[in-house]
Amino acid sequence: MIDQATIERIIDAAHISDVVSEFVTLKKRGVNQLGLCPFHNEKTPSFTVSPAKGIFKCFGCGKGGNSVNFIMELEQLSYPDALRWLAKKFHIEIEEKEESQEEKALKDERESMMIVSAFAQKYFSRFLLKENEGRTIGLSYLRERGIRDDIITKFELGYCPDGKDTFTQAAQREGYKMDFLEKTGLTIKRDDWVRDRFGGRVIFPVHNVAGRVIAFGGRTLTNDKKVAKYLNSPESEIYHKGRTLYGIYQAKRQMTNQDKCYLVEGYTDVLSFHMAGIENVVASSGTSLTIDQIRLIRRFTPNITIVYDGDDAGIKASLRGIDMVLEEGINVKVLPLPRGEDPDTFARSMSASQLAEYIKTNETDFIKFKTQLLMGTVENDPISKARLINDIVRSISVIPDNITRTIYIKECSRLMDVQEEVLYTEIRKIQNKQSEDQTRKDLQALQVQAAKPVVPAAEKKTANPFETEEREILRILLKYFHHEVFEIEDEATKEIHTYTVGFYVLSELQNDGLVSVNPIVRTMIGAMEQNVDNKDFDPIKFFTQYPDQEVSQYTSNLLAEKYIESKRWSKSGAFIETEAELLYLLVPKLIQEYKLKNVKVLLKKIEHQINEANKNNDSEKFMEYMTQFQNLKKVMKELSEQLGFRTIS
Ligand code: CTP
Ligand code: MN
Repeated sequence: MIDQATIERIIDAAHISDVVSEFVTLKKRGVNQLGLCPFHNEKTPSFTVSPAKGIFKCFGCGKGGNSVNFIMELEQLSYPDALRWLAKKFHIEIEEKEESQEEKALKDERESMMIVSAFAQKYFSRFLLKENEGRTIGLSYLRERGIRDDIITKFELGYCPDGKDTFTQAAQREGYKMDFLEKTGLTIKRDDWVRDRFGGRVIFPVHNVAGRVIAFGGRTLTNDKKVAKYLNSPESEIYHKGRTLYGIYQAKRQMTNQDKCYLVEGYTDVLSFHMAGIENVVASSGTSLTIDQIRLIRRFTPNITIVYDGDDAGIKASLRGIDMVLEEGINVKVLPLPRGEDPDTFARSMSASQLAEYIKTNETDFIKFKTQLLMGTVENDPISKARLINDIVRSISVIPDNITRTIYIKECSRLMDVQEEVLYTEIRKIQNKQSEDQTRKDLQALQVQAAKPVVPAAEKKTANPFETEEREILRILLKYFHHEVFEIEDEATKEIHTYTVGFYVLSELQNDGLVSVNPIVRTMIGAMEQNVDNKDFDPIKFFTQYPDQEVSQYTSNLLAEKYIESKRWSKSGAFIETEAELLYLLVPKLIQEYKLKNVKVLLKKIEHQINEANKNNDSEKFMEYMTQFQNLKKVMKELSEQLGFRTIS
C-alpha cells in the first residue's frame, strides 16, 4: 500500500499538463489548454486541461479527473498502479505503507497464488510446445481446430500432461508449496491421494484486467459424453468467476478504441473472433451474465453486442442478458447466428471480411431482435401481441437515459405498428408503479438516515432530488471554504466574530440535520467538517486528489462545469461584479433554497402518507401526519418569505 504522503508527492510532481502532453498535443487557450481527446474520436478539440486546477475534462465525451485518473483511463490501470506509473515517470521513490499483519497475510497469500498460477501457465505452455506428449496430443488438437500459432501465443494456451500428478510434482520440485497449489485448485488433494486437476487437458489460462493469470479452463480431448467438456479452476481468493470475463486483458484496448464490445459464451468463441481480426470480444464462460461482469465491460465501453449460440439456450440467455445490460445504462445490440452455429464455428466458416459483412448487416438492436423473434408467432393474436409490446416497453422503461429511451420508443412504434403515445402511456404506468415503490423506499431511507447520519461512501446510488442544489453548495465550498464573509456581534462582549463560508454552510446543514442521499456528497461534507478549522486545508487539492476515484471525479466535474454565477446573481445588483463579492448574499440564499427544497420533498411524502392513512382508515396516523404537514407548511412559508417568494397556500 502506498502511504498518503507519497501519494501527495506523486500528484504534486505529476503536473497535469506534463502528464497529458505525453499523449496529447495541447495548445494554449486562455488559462487552459486544449487538444484532441484521447478517449473518443473527434476532429475538433474539446479536451481541456486546467493547469491551475490540476484537472482535465473532455466536453465531448465527459471524461474528466486529475492526472492519476488520466493515466488510469488511458493505460487502463488500477489506482495504485497508475500512481506507480506516475512515480516511475517522475522519479519518485515509493514508500509502501506498513500493513497490518492480516492485510499482509492476505496479500501474501493472493500474491503466492498468482505466482504459482504464473508458473503453471508457463509450465503448461512449454509442455504444449516443446514436449512430445504436448505436441502430438495437445498441439495437434488445437491445430486441427484451426487455431493459429499466433493465437496460441497471444492467449498463452497450454497442455497439462496426462499423468496422475506430473504437474504437481514438477511444481513442488521447483519449490512451490502444496498449500497454494491446492488453494488455486491446480492440485486436488485428499487425505491419501494427490492429483492434477487438469491432467490430459488443453489449457486456457484466464487473465485478469492487468494480464495476470488467475485461473484456468481445461478442455478434454475425448468425445466421451461422460467426461466434462471443460473443467475450470474453483472460486478462490484470486478468482471470482462472476467478476471475471475471459479475454478482457486481450480485448480492453480495442474495446476502448472501437468503443464497443462483443460478448460471447465460450473460450473458443473468443479465439475465433481474434483470428478474424475482431479483438474487442469477451466471454462470460458459460455462466449467466452478472452485474459485475457488465460493469467490468462498462469501464471500457458502453456498447455491447451479444453474440450467443444459435440455439434455444443461447437465445434465452440473450434475452435475459438484454434487460440487465440495459439497466446499467448500456446500449445493447444482438447478433443472431444461424441455428446450430456458435460464434466459433460461424467465424471459422468464412473469411474475416465476410464475417465483418455479416455483422454489419445482421446486428440488430434489442427491439428488432425481440420483435423478429416473437412477431412471427403473435401476428394474428392480439393478446400475445399486447404481451410482447408490454415486454418490450418494460425493457425500454429500465433504460436510464432519456434520449436513448425516446429513440427506442420510436423504433418500437414503427416495428410493432403502435402509436408512440400508447407506448409512452405504458411506460408512464410502469414508471409510476416504480416511483411509488421508490417513494416508499426513500422515505424509509430518510428515516434511517435521520437516525444515523454517517454512511460509508461505497454504496448503491439512489435518485437524488437535491442534485442541483448540492452541486452548487459543494462548488461554493470548494472555491470559498476559507473566505471570511460573515460577522456576528457577541451580544455580551460586543466583540465581532468572523465566520468563514465553510463554517457557515456546514453549521447550517448540521443544525437542520440535512444529509444528502448521495454518498459522495456525504463523504465530502464529512471531510470538510473535520477540517473546518484547519487553515492548511485546501479543499480543491484535497478532493481532486482524493483516493476514492468517485469523489475525485465528482470534484473535477464540479470544477469544470460552466456555472451560472453571473446570470444567477446579475439581478441582485448590477454594481457588484464578482461571485466572491456576492458571497454574503449568495450563500445564505443557497442554503435557504436547499432547505426549502427539502421541506417541499418532505411535504410531498407526507401528503402521500396522509392519503395512505386515509385510504386505510387509520385516523391516528392520519392526525399525526396532518400535524406534521401543517408544521412543515409553516416552515415552508417562512423560508419562502425569507427568499422573497410569495407563498400560495
Ligand atoms: N463451459 C464450462 N463447463 C462445461 C461446458 C462449458 O465451463 N462443462 C463453459 C466454457 O467456458 C465454454 C462455455 O461454457 O467455453 C461455452 O460452452 P460450449 O458452447 O459448450 O463450449 P464451446 O466454447 O463451444 O467449446 P468447444 O468449441 O470446445 O466445444
Ligand atoms: Mn459454444
